[in-house]
Formats: sequence, structure tokens, C-alpha cells
Amino acid sequence: MPRWFLTPLLALSAVLASAQDGKLLYEQNCAACHLPDQMVVGPSLIEITKLYDKKPKEFVAWAIKPLKKRNGVIEMPSMAHLGEANLLAVHEYMLTASKGLKEKPAVTKDPLARPARRPEIQRMFLPNVGPAAIAVALPGDLNYTFDAGDCRLRTVWRGDFLDCWAYYKSNGKATATPLGTTLWQLPADESLQKRVKFLGYSVDAAGLPTFEYERDGAQFREKIVTEGKTLVRRFEVTTTKPVTFTLDPATTCSSGTVLNNTLTLTPAEAKSFTLTLRLL
Ligand code: HEC
Repeated sequence: MPRWFLTPLLALSAVLASAQDGKLLYEQNCAACHLPDQMVVGPSLIEITKLYDKKPKEFVAWAIKPLKKRNGVIEMPSMAHLGEANLLAVHEYMLTASKGLKEKPAVTKDPLARPARRPEIQRMFLPNVGPAAIAVALPGDLNYTFDAGDCRLRTVWRGDFLDCWAYYKSNGKATATPLGTTLWQLPADESLQKRVKFLGYSVDAAGLPTFEYERDGAQFREKIVTEGKTLVRRFEVTTTKPVTFTLDPATTCSSGTVLNNTLTLTPAEAKSFTLTLRLL
């Protein structure tokens, strides 16, 4: 694997491991197959809690090297790429997440056929975006990837979300496949990667992420939502200097000055503005 592949991956893992709790790790890595109160692709968190309540070491051992145990289910893919500390955090979260819940009748599903729970956030290794991709299924039928390497919206597609199977089966080395129709995309920008620092993201009550990052000393908060046929990127930027963006033809801005595709916002304008992406 070339070095540039690994560097953003390791940097992202470090940021996420420190900023992130077991809940987020569970949602990104396990919730596709494990629900709190129902067997779907894999057993419920109620069942997992019964098996592993006081056994964190055995839990981690399973997640690193799952066995073939039950009949009529797929083999669980190894989660070794998450590392022991993250898996312990997931263990702690799983024990609390099923408290007071009652087991519902099982629905065993093919993970390939599983529709996205919208909104849904998946940290993934994606073609054209790379290892630092955070894929989001928005309510409705739009999906996007945010690249935590250059801290930018990179692709938007309509329709089904992701086929993650190749990713799961390869311990996070192969790429997942976006489904549906690509509506918009930007190439990676290596010069940008040197100027940005991804700080992580928080999730609001509706399940939508707000990304936080630094670029040239300015602090960015960005939340991406749908409004009709457009994708709206809501920004809050704290800065002492003007900030600039290169605009593509599909994007318009709520304030600032545009000259030759370059948008410039004063610190006052940058405090709160939106970029709107027109989609077909
Ligand atoms: C692609 C689907 C999938 C994903 C993703 C997944 N699992 Fe599983 N998991 C399964 C299946 C299927 C089983 C049951 C396997 C069997 O019994 O043969 C299982 C079983 C388990 C068990 C029960 C082990 C036992 O002794 O019975 C634990 C614990 C577990 N998974 C933890 C995790 C954790 C932690 C994650 C996320 C870091 C995760 N799983 C992600 C599919 C998945």
C-alpha cells in the first residue's frame, strides 16, 4: 500500500479513537448487523450482553477473530482493524444500550439487501475518496461522502447507500461500493490536505453529523442537509482572516464575493453562511 494511503488513515483513526465513544464506534461498525433488541444479521445486544457482560477480553477476542457458531447466519467479518481499545469501548456501550429492552422476534436479513437506516453514518474506505471517507445516508434518497483527508464534501449520489460487504470481508482493506447514481463529485486535493486538520464530528438529535476541522487557522463547523432538490452545506467559521473557497459551477453561496470561481468571505460573513449544491 502506498504511504499516502496509510497516513490519512492512521491520522483519522487517532482522531476518532480519542474523540469518539463506544456509541459512535458501534453505530459505524456494528449497527449494520447488530440491533439493540432484535436479531437481524447477527444477534441482538441483549443476547450479546448475556454472553459477554463480565467478559470484555473474550468479547474483544471474538470481534478480532469471530467463529462460526450459529446456524443460518453469515460469518461475522473480523473487526480486528478497530483495535483492542476501540473494541473495549464498543463492549462498554453494548452493555448499556440494551438495558431494559425486551427481545423482539428475529428477522435475519441479508446485509447486502439491507436498506440504509436514514440518516446513517458509515466510516468507510471508498473508491475515489480513499480511506478517510465518512459516508452519510440522508433522510430521503441522497447520500454523500465527506473526505476527512481534505475535509471536504467529495461525492453526492442518489439511491441506495453502500455495499459494504467487500470492506467487511477484508478487515477494512478493500473499498465499499456506493450504490445508486452519482450526481456530483470532486477530485482529491493534495494541496488542501496539507492545510487542513480534521477534528471529528458530533451527531445531532436527528442523527446528522456536524464536521469540525481547521483550515489555515480558521475553525470550521459544517453540517450538510437536503432542501428539495438541493444539498445545503451550512457553515459556521471562526476566523480572523477572510476565507476562500473554489466554487464549482453547480454551487452558489448565501453571502461573500465571487471572482473567477473564487468565493471570498470576510470574517463577519464567514460566521454563518451556506453553500447550495444544485442537483439534477
Ligand atoms: C456484517 C455483519 C456484522 C457486523 C458488521 C458485525 N457483526 Fe457481530 N455478528 C455477526 C453475525 C452474523 C454473528 C453471529 C455469528 C455466528 O453465530 O456464527 C455475530 C456475532 C457477534 C457476537 C456474538 C458472539 C458469540 O459468542 O455468540 C458479538 C459479541 C459480536 N458479533 C460483536 C460485534 C461487534 C463488536 C461488531 C462491531 C465492531 C460486530 N459484531 C459487527 C455479524 C456482524
